[in-house]
Amino acid sequence: MVAKRVLLFQIAATLLLASAVAAADSNATAPMSKPGCPNKCGEVDIPYPFGTGTDCFMQGYDITCSNTTDPPKAFISAGNIEILRISLVDHELTVRIYMAKWCYDHPFHANTSVDYPYLFSATRNKFTVVGCSTLAYIGGNHDTHSYTSGCISICHEESSVSEGPSCDGLGCCQTSIPTELNVFNTYFDVNFDKGNVQSFSPCNYAFLADQDWFQFDKSKLSEDFGIKNNDRSPAVLDWAIRSPSSCPDAEAHPETYACRGGNTTCLNSTNGDGYRCMCAEGYTGNPYLVGGCQEDGLPYKKLSFEKFKHEKGADV
Ligand SMILES: *[C@@H]1O[C@H](CO)[C@@H](O)[C@H](O)[C@H]1NC(C)=O
Ligand SMILES: *[C@@H]1O[C@H](CO)[C@@H](O)[C@H](O)[C@H]1NC(C)=O
Ligand SMILES: *[C@@H]1O[C@H](CO)[C@@H](O)[C@H](O)[C@H]1NC(C)=O
Ligand SMILES: *[C@@H]1O[C@H](CO)[C@@H](O)[C@H](O)[C@H]1NC(C)=O
Ligand SMILES: *[C@@H]1O[C@H](CO)[C@@H](O)[C@H](O)[C@H]1NC(C)=O
Repeated sequence: MVAKRVLLFQIAATLLLASAVAAADSNATAPMSKPGCPNKCGEVDIPYPFGTGTDCFMQGYDITCSNTTDPPKAFISAGNIEILRISLVDHELTVRIYMAKWCYDHPFHANTSVDYPYLFSATRNKFTVVGCSTLAYIGGNHDTHSYTSGCISICHEESSVSEGPSCDGLGCCQTSIPTELNVFNTYFDVNFDKGNVQSFSPCNYAFLADQDWFQFDKSKLSEDFGIKNNDRSPAVLDWAIRSPSSCPDAEAHPETYACRGGNTTCLNSTNGDGYRCMCAEGYTGNPYLVGGCQEDGLPYKKLSFEKFKHEKGADV
């Protein structure tokens, strides 16, 4: 009888653990690293194909976790671009990059580059210019060609500066970027002078940023705006499995196909070559791990998991 009870308890515990996995997987932001690998660096979740440490990542998706700060910070590969967030579902990475800044002393012109598998998102980012006598450019490589675009903002007096939050040309100007952008420079035309505006617009900024992050108001014309953000802005990168260049090609080579273990679907990349793995409808989890896509967790499973976690104080 006692043995039976122990056995029953073990079965129950196993079921609860199985549903614990399902419940954790059902949250898109839940860490889903390769088994045995760190699933976080500081506050950043690291789902496979990303990883930090030997054998923890797919080639090209390595993350450097630097513990010289508290909390530790994640960086792309061996570079110096800090990662704020990794999204498996949207196939995005949010990174922190430098803004160009000019407070009428030395202009700082920012250059940024990332390597494949990353490209700057054309749908999530806007090139934004802040100032009242400002012409700034963004120039880079689109595919194999170079491109240049820019934005102008002129406001002659303080009363004509926009109240915000939209960036409407009165102290702030925004423009879109093309797809397939991985290198760009942001810089000012330092000879562009449309009157003395320094009293109410002491600084100029030019930056690429997540369009959901930036909201204009008069305070953005001050030096504080740069200082508060360490002269950096959050920008969104798209990532994909870049080779082979599309789903049909990838599916024809099962030995290298990155969508693992069934119940996955393949989507062509929408920015640059390649493909993205998703869990099939009704499944959630990590399509890049063998058996990573689990049937959608049922509410009672999640409940029992929460209860289990509460009662056992399980560390998950
Ligand atoms: C689950 O997702 C929600 C909303 O996306 C988020 O606020 C929450 O922190 C996530 N929980 C875990 C455990 O990641
Ligand atoms: C940082 O990481 C190194 C090696 O990865 C380790 O030896 C060291 O103890 C860590 N330092 C802290 C403060 O965690
Ligand atoms: C940025 O790129 C330009 C050329 O496009 C170069 O002249 C300049 O030195 C670069 N600046 C930095 C800070 O690397
Ligand atoms: C993906 O791209 C390939 C090659 O361009 C094309 O043949 C295929 O139809 C595309 N698949 C989807 C679902 O769009
Ligand atoms: C897909 O998931 C179902 C369970 O929902 C499982 O029975 C099946 O084996 C999975 N398919 C593959 C190819 O793993």
